[in-house]
Amino acid sequence: MGIPDRLQTSIATLQLRNPIIAAAGTSGYIDELADALDLAAIGAITTKSITREEREGNTPWRVVPCSAGMLNAIGLANKGLDRFIAEEVPRVRSCGTEVIASIAGHTIDDYVAVAHALDDTHQFKAIELNVSCPNTITGRHFGADPATLGELLGEVRAAITRSRMFVKLAPDMVDPVGMSARAIECGANALVLCNTMPAMAIDITTRKTRLSRGQGGLSGPAIHPIVVRIVHDVYRSVARSANIPIIGVGGVMGWQDAAELILAGATGVGMGTALFVDPRSPARVVRGLDRWVESQGSVQISELIGQVGQ
Ligand SMILES: Cc1cc2nc3c(=O)[nH]c(=O)nc-3n(C[C@H](O)[C@H](O)[C@H](O)COP(=O)(O)O)c2cc1C
Repeated sequence: MGIPDRLQTSIATLQLRNPIIAAAGTSGYIDELADALDLAAIGAITTKSITREEREGNTPWRVVPCSAGMLNAIGLANKGLDRFIAEEVPRVRSCGTEVIASIAGHTIDDYVAVAHALDDTHQFKAIELNVSCPNTITGRHFGADPATLGELLGEVRAAITRSRMFVKLAPDMVDPVGMSARAIECGANALVLCNTMPAMAIDITTRKTRLSRGQGGLSGPAIHPIVVRIVHDVYRSVARSANIPIIGVGGVMGWQDAAELILAGATGVGMGTALFVDPRSPARVVRGLDRWVESQGSVQISELIGQVGQ
């Protein structure tokens, strides 16, 4: 790719060629993004969240633009575990980058069944538990308090033997540090911070909510400084001492946003909304990050993680 080794990074035994990761739900199942972006240019992609059952998701409108970002209420639309394994998983090895499997569920049994089956395919080095989806009735249940989260993680941890366990949390947690500490105690190998922010928009002409579901999740530049704070606080308070990497996700549109998250404490950087604006933007961010690392006199990007001054 012409990008030197200085961007290589390691997230809980996953060796990535660079820290840029396509965020869950924004680039299809495995390789749909390849029509527009050479997947070998990025560190990893994350699948859309897979559930045990096939889900149609919410009725349209379920994505609307708004100032400083977008609102979505997709509702975890996906073809379900069995079809995902039969129809999509065979392309994981050939897609050109690392693939992280995102999963969701209504019950602990759901998460355990999906995690176990995906682990059993031997195709995923990491399974990301989405416990922070604002667009289904139970989407945020397991990320809402430390005890419930701990119970879920304990069961999933026991059900997987090969894959690393990543945990994706919400941006509006009352105590992100406490929740992250619980996730780490219960076996999380990496933290993914964060999902979308619960939000809504109203069409003043029709006086109806712009999303059919009423409310949804806000992503894009509007949430970036919120995520920078959370990554910073979690890194300083718990993740650094526990040696648990953070994937920072929220409003990364350019390399400067990614650099900010790395200085705050992120090892990996997810991009979601930016892909809807320009699906090639991750490659541009990788090139910008490379020039930035060089300009900082750093040999490796890892030397810059958490290096914000106070
Ligand atoms: C259309 C859309 C669908 C999403 N679907 C999922 C999903 O299936 N699972 C998940 O964990 N996050 C999902 N997300 C959240 C993103 O992965 C990401 O955490 C969030 O959008 C913030 O990053 P961004 O500001 O770069 O978009 C979705 C986001 C969008 C915009």
